[in-house]
Order: sequence, then structure tokens, then C-alpha cells
Amino acid sequence: MHRWTDDTERLAREILEYVRTRARLDPVPLDGPRSADELRRDAGATVTEEGLGGSEALRVFREVLAPACLSVDHPRFLSFIPAAPTEAALLFDLVVGASSIYGGSWLEGSGAVFAENEALRWLADLAGLPEGAGGVFVQGGTLGNVSALVAARAAARGRRPAPPPRWKVVCSEHAHSSLDHAARVMDVDLVAVRPDADGRLTGAAVAEAMDDDVFAVFATAGTTNFGIVDDLASVAAVCRERGIWLHVDGAYGGAALAAASARPLFAGVEHADSFTVDPHKWLFAPFDCCALLYRDPAAARAVHRQSAGYLDVLEGDEWNPSDYALNLTRRARGLPFWFSLATHGTRAYCDAIETTLAVARFAADEVRRRAYVELLREPDLSVVVFRRTGWTAERYREWSRRLLDANVAFVTPTVHEGETVTRFAIVNPRTTRSDVSMILDTMA
Ligand SMILES: Cc1ncc(COP(=O)(O)O)c(C=O)c1O
Repeated sequence: MHRWTDDTERLAREILEYVRTRARLDPVPLDGPRSADELRRDAGATVTEEGLGGSEALRVFREVLAPACLSVDHPRFLSFIPAAPTEAALLFDLVVGASSIYGGSWLEGSGAVFAENEALRWLADLAGLPEGAGGVFVQGGTLGNVSALVAARAAARGRRPAPPPRWKVVCSEHAHSSLDHAARVMDVDLVAVRPDADGRLTGAAVAEAMDDDVFAVFATAGTTNFGIVDDLASVAAVCRERGIWLHVDGAYGGAALAAASARPLFAGVEHADSFTVDPHKWLFAPFDCCALLYRDPAAARAVHRQSAGYLDVLEGDEWNPSDYALNLTRRARGLPFWFSLATHGTRAYCDAIETTLAVARFAADEVRRRAYVELLREPDLSVVVFRRTGWTAERYREWSRRLLDANVAFVTPTVHEGETVTRFAIVNPRTTRSDVSMILDTMA
């Protein structure tokens, strides 16, 4: 198993050929879910005492398992928040996997950590965070958010001799579900305030909800359902006045910091104490990758660093990524993103994000132009939410299922204020105007 043999050589060719073929499909089939019974029947026994051999295991994956996984990078996969990794990032993911890099400490992975930090610095500069800012790439926005809030609470504890009966986080009703999860895990309360008429969390609403038990304000730069960027400047002003930690969740929307046309929406993000953005969403990296940045990394390190006799040897090193989140062993998951940035340059990123924003604006125009659909809100970023007049929830589900079964598109319904509607989340620069028009035509 641990020696390179002729069989391994053959398997390497087959795997690389699979990767080349998958990457070159244009477009890749959308594929779709199957039941466990169907998969069991078609895959047969896969974990056996003697093993299937690499070629056969790869065949099962290629013919049975892979087609049962939706292709999130399909240009007409417009549900949830899709992904659209660059070819360079995808290919480099193979290199990361093949290199057995331990990305938790400087001692073991200095080259990788250095490169990841270069990529983090680009993001920190986009947000206007100070020179001393830094952090770590974690698995996803969920882990980024909880890690940031744990740091925020620790900082508040350090400032208060007597803890309040219940710690609280102020957020908008539109904050991502991962915040609710974080609050449950941390056993803290959420004070969810109603956003303004335009859907934004504002400083005024935050000020009203504030009391002595609040340790953090959680603002969103690009809500999941609508792509709304909270009024970060007014929220930040309240946080600064009261000395409260501001976390900005830019898991989806933070990428648009790179787009000149959207940058003004983010005014105030430079005051964030912590900031997250997922390169696996709109920054063209493969799963899974969230950039977690702190204004003052020492505050995060104070709570996240693990200590034990066997870790003492790491103490005092340049930068140990594990010290900044709920993790110890970690894949250097920022490397595919770094490699793609290094390959293509930042301008290509800015242009690609502008492309998706332009297609989203086109989609909004197309919705406005058609009598049978209605735009719910002018998009801030690249999420376009609309209703098909007269449709029930069931009708949306049928339509969505039909599009997927026909390998046309993956567009799911969502719920807004009790009403079932639908949305396009566009992060793939290869999603075209005609893709959008064609999907809207199917609703006529
Ligand atoms: C605004 C926002 N925050 C957090 C998350 C959670 O990120 P992840 O799915 O990477 O854990 C998402 C996911 O869509 C999101 O849109």
C-alpha cells in the first residue's frame, strides 16, 4: 500500500485522466441525488476484505457515485451558494493532497503557511484591516463564525471582572443559520433585531438592542437569501463607541470587496474586529475554505491556542494557524486559493467578480421585463430573488425538480417572510445572460 508499484503507476494515470476529463467537461452534467438503495445496488460491496483494486474502485466512483453528486460548479447551478473553482485552484488541490503538508504550525508547514498568509493579506487589504491583522483558513463560514465569536467572548470576559448571567450577541434577523448554531454551541443568547425597510442591520437598531451583557455584534456583508450588505458603517460606529467586538460575516458577499462597483456597500468593514469570507463561494477556490481574519490576532490566540507538553516546541514560532480557530491538525486549505491568485493575479479576480455582478444585474432586468415574474428586491450583490406570480410552493418544487431532471439547471425555491419564492445565486463567471433568460423562459 505504501510503495509506488507498476499498479500505482497505472492508477496514477487513470486518476489524472479522470481529473482531466472531469475538468474539461463543458458544461459538466448537473447530475443529481439517488437513494441509498439504488447506490447500494449499483455500487455493490465497496469495502471488502480483499479490496477492489484501484481501477475498480475508481470505476465505481466514476460510474455510480460521482453522478450521484450534484455538480456545484455547473454554470446553471444557481441554488444555495454555488462554487466555481478555477482550473488552477482545482489542479493545485491535487498537489496539496499529494504533499502531506501539515498546515497547523509554522514548524511543520512554514512554506504553506507563508503562502496562505499572503492570500489572507490580500483579503485583509481589501477589507482595509490594519497591518497587524491575520488569521487562518478554516473549513467554512460556520467554523469561522463560531471561532470569531469565541474570541470575542474571551475578550469581553477579560475586560469584565464579573460575567453577566447570559452573554448576548446582537444580530439581524437575516443573519446566517450558522450564527444560531454558534449561539447554541456557546450557550449564549442571540438578540435578533429587525432590519430596516431595506433589509439592513443599522447602527440605530443595534444601539437600541445593546445592553451590558452584549459581547459582540454580528453583521452580515451579503446575506445568504438576498445578498444584502448590512449598514456596516453605522453598526461599526455603535460598536466602537461602546467597545463591543464587531464580527462581519462576509462568507458569501465578502468577495465583492474586490469589485469596484460593489465596494462602497462595504464602507465600515475596516472597523471589524473579525471578518470571514469563504473563497469556496465567490473567490473560485475548491471546497472547503473560509478565510477568518482578526484585527488583533493575539485576542484570538489567547483563547484558541492549545497547550500541552508535546506542543511546547511550537511556542514562539512565527505564525501557527491552529492558534486562531477551533482546530489543531489542519489541511493547508488556503493553498489552492493562493495558487490561483498567484497564477492569475488579483485583477483577474476583480474582473471575474464584476462579470458575475453584471449577470446578476441583467437577471434583475430580465425579471422586471417579464410580466409573470416579480423582483422582490434590487440585488446588492449577485443574489436575485423573485416570485412567479400565482405559483404555490408545490409548483416551485415541481419546476425545480423538472429543471434538474432534464439536466437544465439547479434552482431551488426559498422562503421569504412565509412566502415561497425562488432565487438565482450567481458566483460562476461562466453563467451567461442566456442561461438566465433560458431559465426564466421555463417559468412562463
Ligand atoms: C452569510 C453566510 N454565512 C455563513 C455561511 C456558512 O458557511 P459554510 O457553509 O461555509 O459553513 C454561509 C453559507 O452559505 C453564508 O452564506
